[in-house]
Amino acid sequence: MTTQEEQTRAALRFPPGFAWGAATSAYQIEGAVGEDGRGASIWDTFTRTPGRILGGHHADVAIDHYHRYREDVAIMARLGLSAYRFSVSWPRIQPGGSGPVNSKGLDFYKRLTDELRRHDIDPWLTLYHWDLPQELEDAGGWPNRDTAYRFAEYAAAVHEALKDHVHTFSTVNEPWCAAFLGYASGEHAPGRREPENAIRGAHHLNLAHGLAVQAMNARRVGGCVNLYAITPATGAERDLDAARRIDGLQNRFFLDALLLGRYPEDVLADLGMDLGFIQPGDMKAIGAPIDVLLVNYYSRFTVSGEPGGRASAAAAPTDTASPWVGSEHVSFVNGGRPVTAMGWEIDEDGLVEILTRVAREYPPIPMVVSENGAAFDDALVDGRVHDRERQAYVEAHLAACRRAIDLGVPLQGYFAWSLMDNFEWAWGYGKRFGLVHVDFETQERLLKDSALWYAEIIRQNRRHEPTDS
Ligand code: FCB
Repeated sequence: MTTQEEQTRAALRFPPGFAWGAATSAYQIEGAVGEDGRGASIWDTFTRTPGRILGGHHADVAIDHYHRYREDVAIMARLGLSAYRFSVSWPRIQPGGSGPVNSKGLDFYKRLTDELRRHDIDPWLTLYHWDLPQELEDAGGWPNRDTAYRFAEYAAAVHEALKDHVHTFSTVNEPWCAAFLGYASGEHAPGRREPENAIRGAHHLNLAHGLAVQAMNARRVGGCVNLYAITPATGAERDLDAARRIDGLQNRFFLDALLLGRYPEDVLADLGMDLGFIQPGDMKAIGAPIDVLLVNYYSRFTVSGEPGGRASAAAAPTDTASPWVGSEHVSFVNGGRPVTAMGWEIDEDGLVEILTRVAREYPPIPMVVSENGAAFDDALVDGRVHDRERQAYVEAHLAACRRAIDLGVPLQGYFAWSLMDNFEWAWGYGKRFGLVHVDFETQERLLKDSALWYAEIIRQNRRHEPTDS
């Protein structure tokens, strides 16, 4: 082994028990949208709305995971994963978002988690990865407070049915996206452009989290946030203010709520709106103790207070408005780093920055990186995908995780986004994030070079673990 190889290996050596994972979400992979009593979700409706999804794609079949889950779990076992993060489709469990549970829907997740456990893969269940039952949207969606109570009932039902199968339950995936892309920019379902309702939605998503934590009373429960490292374009006052604002909306609005039980005063002031929908007791519920914080990390934003620039860090695939409620004047500038196929700048130092920040500025909480990965334009040649760039991305970010641990961050695991190529929301099937290549016509799965490499890193790390756990 060369010295450089030795250094790389040392940089990627993790403490025993570190969770080696990959992540997916229900709507992006399952398909089977009309099967076993599943109701319609806002994504079924949105994908049917002309102009909303690149190429007019939908996920009626997606990558057919609903039928192929055994094959997919076998792939996870081949990779040596010790953990798998997936989400439950709310409209499979309660087709209209309330009332009695649909046992056939729950059975799917029982089969899936049984299969995972048979392979010693720890299931990490996410209750909500954006597929709100359409009936609840018709009643007002997330801006309607009632949705938070419906969510707590749904959470309790899923927990009751699956608590013997699942150790770690997490609530809402990336509430920022659900609120601001769903109700302000319109890039995601339900595609509304109603800035004030986006803030209501954000609050009710936080409330849903807190009420669900209380309703489940689970052995181990987590909340999930998507955090960005943020840099002002210059040292000028207006750029510093822009950075404060975007950090406030993207990061602190959710971190402060979940971990401190309050909203940052400066962010509320920026919004300049009537906040009467925040009711007494809400913040206490939102701040209900959790056992683990799930952090999704992809990139860094460089922001400027000079109006007239780009309204977000990367191009949106469809016609959208600004998601930055109350700070619409902020623009996003090129930070000069290499980008992925999404146009997202690659910056692994940003991951160290946000993890150490959470550890420093908030009460102690174990964390995992619950999503991290990259889309690139993969080429399948002679049965191989030589995705060097994805491998380099994951390698750099894993090394960043290791650095964060060395700096004292209680980081307990890493989940690559994504296990397999899948339906990438407004981008349809046009962006591939998988470690595993999927032929969207034949549904054939094939391990990319990045997957083979990840499997080797996992093997080296896990080889001293007891096998009879
Ligand atoms: C995250 C989402 C996930 C996937 C990745 C690329 O924001 O949680 O579903 O789309 O981005």
